[in-house]
Amino acid sequence: MSTVLITGGSGFLGRRLAVALRGRHRVVLAARNHKLNHAAEHFTGCPVIPMDVAHIEAVRDVFGEIRPEIVVHAAATKFVDLAERQPLECIDVNVVGSENVARVAIEKGVAAVVGISTDKAAPPVRNTYGLTKALMERMFCALDGKTATRFACVRYGNVAWSTGSVLPIWKRMHESTGVIGTTGPDMTRFFFTVDSAVALVLTALDHMEDVRGRVLGREMKSARIRDILDLWIKTRGGRWEPIAGRPGERTDEYLLGDAELPFTVERRFDGIRHFVISFNQRAAEPVAAGLSSATAVRLSEAEILDIIGSPPVEELK
Ligand SMILES: NC(=O)c1ccc[n+]([C@@H]2O[C@H](COP(=O)([O-])OP(=O)(O)OC[C@H]3O[C@@H](n4cnc5c(N)ncnc54)[C@H](OP(=O)(O)O)[C@@H]3O)[C@@H](O)[C@H]2O)c1
Repeated sequence: MSTVLITGGSGFLGRRLAVALRGRHRVVLAARNHKLNHAAEHFTGCPVIPMDVAHIEAVRDVFGEIRPEIVVHAAATKFVDLAERQPLECIDVNVVGSENVARVAIEKGVAAVVGISTDKAAPPVRNTYGLTKALMERMFCALDGKTATRFACVRYGNVAWSTGSVLPIWKRMHESTGVIGTTGPDMTRFFFTVDSAVALVLTALDHMEDVRGRVLGREMKSARIRDILDLWIKTRGGRWEPIAGRPGERTDEYLLGDAELPFTVERRFDGIRHFVISFNQRAAEPVAAGLSSATAVRLSEAEILDIIGSPPVEELK
């Protein structure tokens, strides 16, 4: 049974990835906050080790102790507006932290590393958070093939109900005042479930030879913020209102930017349309069109209701 280390393992995604992987691997989680680590250990049944990815000696110690064959690198600072105000922390965690994980993975002979990225890393990049994740993607993809360690990334849209995302924030606002404030009623966003987010990592691991040195994305549906809010209010009462925008926001997101088209091929994995993005290798048969949340297939009313009606159990509160 091989050992999987999940950095950021106490987070929304990390905990669920641990549960999905623990049957077929020995899974160890790593993150900083002891209280969250303890709760994650309780939730997953997997050991959690304190580790700050921004501190290379800590990464070296943990990799030396755990000896992972596979690393899923989910640790990140992910709040767009916070990263605009405090870019150094975001760069320390997302860029230096990713660099540390990559260096030590190579040093310790880890077989495979998968980094979790975001649609905010796709061109045209609009904010510091997106830039840091774009750097992680480039770094990991460029390192693949240099040593025995294989690297790949997966690129996500918004994972519904994840820590600090719009759905839990709206729920809190609605419960306390009956009014939901939104910074962008006309913005569009890709949404997918945490199960699909976990599945994308599993697909990358299962098809590592096809996706190594590349970023794996998948077809995803989008929604206009106003349409989600209208349904929320229609089914639960109250009202929504526009509030001031936050730094770094963009109106629409891109899972696949136009500049990436010549370097991207389409692949079907498990019956789902995926995109395999290479940065420097032109594709013989590139995909024809980018994937923007403005033009993607929209979530139906039933799908939106399903997403907003299924908050995960708040097991870490
Ligand atoms: N959720 C989404 O919608 C979404 C969309 C696209 C991409 N992603 C990416 O998916 C990954 C997981 O996101 P999530 O929603 O699970 O976020 P989350 O719930 O905020 O979890 C982040 C995890 O990273 C850990 N972490 C942060 N800084 C760290 C550091 N310096 N060293 C070690 N661990 C650190 C956190 O724990 P401590 O703070 O205690 O260390 C936590 O375990 C991130 O890389 C994120 O950028 C998420």
